Amino acid sequence: MMKLYAAPLEGITGYVFRNAFHACFDNVDKYFIPFIQPNQRGHFSSREKQDVKPENNRGMYTVPQILTNSSEDFLRTAWKLQTAYGYKEINLNLGCPSKTVISKKRGSGFLAYPEELEQFLEGIFEKAEVEISIKTRIGKESPDEFARILEIYNKFPVRELIIHPRVQTDFYKNHPNLEVFQMALDASKVPVCYNGDIFSIEDYQRFTERFPQIDHIMLGRGLLKNPGLTREIRHQIPLDKEILKKFHDCLYQGYCQVLSGDRTILFKMKELWGFLAPIFTDYEKYAKKIKKSEKLWAYEDVVEKLFAEQDLV
Ligand SMILES: Cc1cc2nc3c(=O)[nH]c(=O)nc-3n(C[C@H](O)[C@H](O)[C@H](O)COP(=O)(O)O)c2cc1C
Repeated sequence: MMKLYAAPLEGITGYVFRNAFHACFDNVDKYFIPFIQPNQRGHFSSREKQDVKPENNRGMYTVPQILTNSSEDFLRTAWKLQTAYGYKEINLNLGCPSKTVISKKRGSGFLAYPEELEQFLEGIFEKAEVEISIKTRIGKESPDEFARILEIYNKFPVRELIIHPRVQTDFYKNHPNLEVFQMALDASKVPVCYNGDIFSIEDYQRFTERFPQIDHIMLGRGLLKNPGLTREIRHQIPLDKEILKKFHDCLYQGYCQVLSGDRTILFKMKELWGFLAPIFTDYEKYAKKIKKSEKLWAYEDVVEKLFAEQDLV
């Protein structure tokens, strides 16, 4: 059976989101926690701490992710996640395309330095006592870079390799490069998981027809555009308004409990609506009002109306 993973989406799929999702929808096999960036003092930020605490992740299989190019920082952080929080599996971020990250040779920026990357991996695989998986793009600038990068990954006991077949300079533009993904699938000695642009049941079917041997898929924005996607994939049950409303309310109440200030709470909700709104018929005017809302009461009012007056497409 297909294993489905929830992608880490920094700023969105924190523990409040994961818990709301878990309470309303079909469970996914692994939830990836948005990245932790080790700092010099070795402390977690309060966001990072809340996100990895076992009591905030009950009943879910969660995998924390580390974003760094320093093997010492990786090992120190992994050790803490293992000993203080009980994690047995950790993911390495070699995919993040953001300018501030890549300028420090991290995320997909690290892919442009294969020799240093190999040394880094030697360092972490030699000493780490947890299982390490990798989430990667296929290069910094050109998909041609990936053959060399994959040779490096193949030297290590990587738990699994999650491939988002775009290069850094694509950001989220263009399309996942399925030719290079096929090449990687043929050449990888490590179990491969696919990630990228599976937004609907049709995308899923098209992908699995082309790659019948793939049995691990990670879903990111697809779960924001249609939070019922995993249930649709697994049980052919399309999303209905009641469950979506329950999920929305769960998420909203979750944020209201842990965040303070209408604007802070609404900032989070608006981010989700940026992805979710098009699942409704005639959504534009509601989406605009949601975006403009500054008070919780105004937000609640327009959301109620949207659910009452429109259907799911
Ligand atoms: C807002 C946002 C935040 C993201 N944060 C992370 C992150 O913390 N770690 C990571 O590995 N990838 C991150 N990603 C990338 C996603 O995990 C995923 O690889 C990407 O969205 C492609 O998958 P999709 O097409 O299914 O969304 C982020 C993407 C977005 C849009």
